[in-house]
Amino acid sequence: MVHQHETNSADAELLPIDLRSDTVTKPTEAMYARMASAPIGDDGLDGDPTVRELEAVAAAAMGKDAGLFVPSCTMANLLAALAQSQRSEQIVLESTAHMYTSERGAATFTGQFYLAVAGTAGAMDLNLLQDALQGDGLKLRTALVAMETSHNNASGAVLSLEHMQAVHAMASARGVPVHLDGARLFNAAIALEVAPAQIAKHCDTVSLCLSKGLSAPAGAVLAGPHAVIDRSRRFRRMLGGTQRQIGILAAAGLEAIQVMGARLAEDHRRARTLSDALNEMHPKVSATIPQTNIVQVDLSLSGRDSAAWSGALESAGLRTRPWGRHRLRCVTHRHIDDADIERAVMAFRSVAAGLA
Ligand SMILES: Cc1ncc(COP(=O)(O)O)c(C=O)c1O
Repeated sequence: MVHQHETNSADAELLPIDLRSDTVTKPTEAMYARMASAPIGDDGLDGDPTVRELEAVAAAAMGKDAGLFVPSCTMANLLAALAQSQRSEQIVLESTAHMYTSERGAATFTGQFYLAVAGTAGAMDLNLLQDALQGDGLKLRTALVAMETSHNNASGAVLSLEHMQAVHAMASARGVPVHLDGARLFNAAIALEVAPAQIAKHCDTVSLCLSKGLSAPAGAVLAGPHAVIDRSRRFRRMLGGTQRQIGILAAAGLEAIQVMGARLAEDHRRARTLSDALNEMHPKVSATIPQTNIVQVDLSLSGRDSAAWSGALESAGLRTRPWGRHRLRCVTHRHIDDADIERAVMAFRSVAAGLA
């Protein structure tokens, strides 16, 4: 069976280039094939063999004891918090981390407080982290520290292993576990040229999203020590995150983990090509220099806001995402090839031509 997304015909030329997110990636043909033939069971009853396999493969890839398949990375992060901290305790994280900017609404029902500390390129200020860990006996106890790599809001920046090691050592010295939001862990691993486990060894639990650059249609895995994963499994049921014959989806996840990581270097190269071209294009437009697959384009000098730019680019056949008032976010992924990058730059050029 040939799926619509795989067509590379003249028709595809008419489609807009979609740089809004790497979550738009469709399953590969190999994923569909594995989904069609996956042995399945009931993951809420006595288990699903393909889910079990995915959990074991993911845990091994991240160097952890056990894994838990969940519907989304948001749920993986939430379970890490629930399983490792109590009500009225705090979770410390960098102030632009996804868990803070987009997920901390969870506090309204977990009763956990999120303490954001300032950072640079997604890396927490270690002095501020030290203060938060120290406490004074009067403030909330810090029960969990969270990091993120690659860092979504920091334009795909990758934390250095030295930074991660320092955070882990500081937290461990106080008996505080560290969670890693590794939604794009494989991108970070490719950028650092190390195995994912070499990064994940600097944390106790780690979440990995299967549905971004790795192209699975949905799903994430939380990995960590047996006791934490067992607790998370119980919380997952409470949240309604236990799915039945979900081996069908786990099969795509297996393909994502075992096969799709290697090609991410291509996305990183194309993001860099895009960034270089935009930085040369117009003095009033500047782009971040990506370590991975995310480029933010700063338009604050252009006299137009990000909504106006994204509307104009859309008319020129390029989909981007406003990221605040003065920035656009462009993310490369499997459906973007070299010619698409050229067309994307042409679209930017045509809009920039209208600038004063
Ligand atoms: C760094 C990071 N963490 C977590 C998430 C949440 O992932 P999901 O959409 O699977 O819940 C995202 C989604 O964009 C993300 O970028």
